[in-house]
Amino acid sequence: MARAASAQGGKDELFALRLERSAPDLWPMLDLLYGHHPDYEQFRAALLKTLKKAWDSRPDDLCQLDLRRDLNPEWFRKPDMAGYVFYIDRFAKDLSQVFEKIDYLQELGITYVHLMPCLKPRPGDSDGGYSVMDYRKINPDYGSMDDFEALTKALRERGISVCIDLVLNHTAKEHAWAKKAAKGDKKYQDYYLMFDDDTLPKRYEESLVEVFPDNAPGNFTYYPDFGKWVWTTFNEHQWDLNWANPQVFLEIVDIMLFLANRGVDVLRLDAVAFMWKRMGTRCQSEPEVHMILQALRACSRIASASVLHLEEAIVSPAEMLPYLGRGLHDGKEGNLAYHNSLMVQYWSALASRDTTLMTQVLARHFPETLSNATYATYIRCHDDIGWAITDEDAQAAGLSGHHHRAFLSDFYDGTFPGSFARGTLFQVNEATGDKRISGTFASLAGAEAGPEQREFAVQRMLMGHALIASFGGIPLIYMGDEVALTNDYGYVNAPDHAHDSRWIHRPQMDWAATDLADANAMSTRVYLGTRDILARRKEIQGLHAAYGTRICFGPNRAIFAFARLAPTGTILCLFNFSEQWQSLPTQWLDQQGLTRYHDLLSDHPIAVSDGQVSSRGRATWRSRRGYGQSVDHRPYSVFGYEQRSDRCNQAHPVP
Ligand code: GLC
Repeated sequence: MARAASAQGGKDELFALRLERSAPDLWPMLDLLYGHHPDYEQFRAALLKTLKKAWDSRPDDLCQLDLRRDLNPEWFRKPDMAGYVFYIDRFAKDLSQVFEKIDYLQELGITYVHLMPCLKPRPGDSDGGYSVMDYRKINPDYGSMDDFEALTKALRERGISVCIDLVLNHTAKEHAWAKKAAKGDKKYQDYYLMFDDDTLPKRYEESLVEVFPDNAPGNFTYYPDFGKWVWTTFNEHQWDLNWANPQVFLEIVDIMLFLANRGVDVLRLDAVAFMWKRMGTRCQSEPEVHMILQALRACSRIASASVLHLEEAIVSPAEMLPYLGRGLHDGKEGNLAYHNSLMVQYWSALASRDTTLMTQVLARHFPETLSNATYATYIRCHDDIGWAITDEDAQAAGLSGHHHRAFLSDFYDGTFPGSFARGTLFQVNEATGDKRISGTFASLAGAEAGPEQREFAVQRMLMGHALIASFGGIPLIYMGDEVALTNDYGYVNAPDHAHDSRWIHRPQMDWAATDLADANAMSTRVYLGTRDILARRKEIQGLHAAYGTRICFGPNRAIFAFARLAPTGTILCLFNFSEQWQSLPTQWLDQQGLTRYHDLLSDHPIAVSDGQVSSRGRATWRSRRGYGQSVDHRPYSVFGYEQRSDRCNQAHPVP
């Protein structure tokens, strides 16, 4: 009895300490957001109660994990972190079968899995699960909340963290709140953005963009049965939440902590850019969005300290960075955010065989280091690729933004003469000329473009995986990209998917491809190369995400270069985006401060000939494995040079 009381006393004390730690990050944000609200004091009291209740019911093993991560806050920035992203049904059928795949994940070097939307979606088309009708239940096709908890536990025991989606911008129109709102319940109508007539929607529309112009044009939907216009940024069945209502904040915190207590390590906060609306703007990334996200982060730190927030904001470079906390929010917002620009620039440089734009954008918009945060780096995900390249950035690189974006769409849908890509268009916007692209990594990289492209396709994929593994952040491998899965053209036969070309790159996992029986198969080559990259990454402490990433301006436009500024010696990472062999003068390498030429991927010294270092020879990781040596043409190779000098630690001017 006495022991239980003292355990509770200890738990209370920890809560008080964590509240004290995060209070300065929480209340000032809420004061700004909701301070004017007549019930503000009750709201604050209710929030405190919610936090305490969640903490009191947090399982002991998770409280222990909280403590462990409080003591080791760098855990997610270490080079042993590597993520894998999959739809449960496409990877393993259901949760019970995911258990069977843990060995596979571990073998690949995975320490983080993103189980794509797994909360109970609306029936029928649910935007791939992003139209959630119950945040407290698992999709019954996948299993139950008990199965989910058992899986998070099993994964944790094997050193794998679990990320799930929490959709913040909208619920399904079948969610209990939405149903009450549709029945006329005023309290719940205020959870959404509803209008009696179209006067205000029309005014908002003047400055809004359309996310799905093809199949869900406009941002509002009229419902004659209850006589209201409802804000529906995405699909008609996804109703935007009214974050100006403090009750919405309270409900979401409760849900967030409920999920945290089921063993979730990372919450992927979906579509966060859209959470705050302001007349006359695009209603994206408004300052209040960052206040809400900082406040949510503080709530997690108080009641589930080990949980991280990954913010999904697929926006332009300058707009993206604040999601990792800038200015007042520095170190207090997302622990992770998608590096959309790195992904876009990879595809842009691959098509143009020129890294000038990539180098300039990444140098201009992104700082060398981030406080308490890092990127989720990726080359492909379940969504389309939008050409988030601004006119200004294109112009600075001597390009026309409009023409370059059009070139990229044509290149990746395969219509540009000589293109190796076999993608398909997504959401063509006639008004803006915007055309986004769907397609798997392999199909976009040339795997379907005939035998002469096969070797190039392998190299392009491995270069992409090496890029995201070394840039700084958690590399996320999208299911199937480790075995070069190509497009699934059958999506057009599924009635719920046919209208949405993103399903072309959401194929079923091909388990036969993982048996590695055929050493020359593209799947085997890409799998072994990817596994090797992740294994090498784990061993190279200099790739820790806390160390700076400095983009280097080199003499060869086909080569993208950055330096990882580790205190033990800088690592220079080089990526050849062309089909040709490329060289770099040793003079330039020396100017970067190099004192030792050593390929960290293969762990071999690098040869210099005629004052040049070139991307052929034994400079790739593959030679260690004994496969691929017969291929003496090595474009798209990657190599790293370790530096032992501090000379590179001086600011590198943007030319
Ligand atoms: C996010 C998801 C995307 C979904 C959208 C609406 O962007 O990644 O798949 O369509 O949110 O929920």
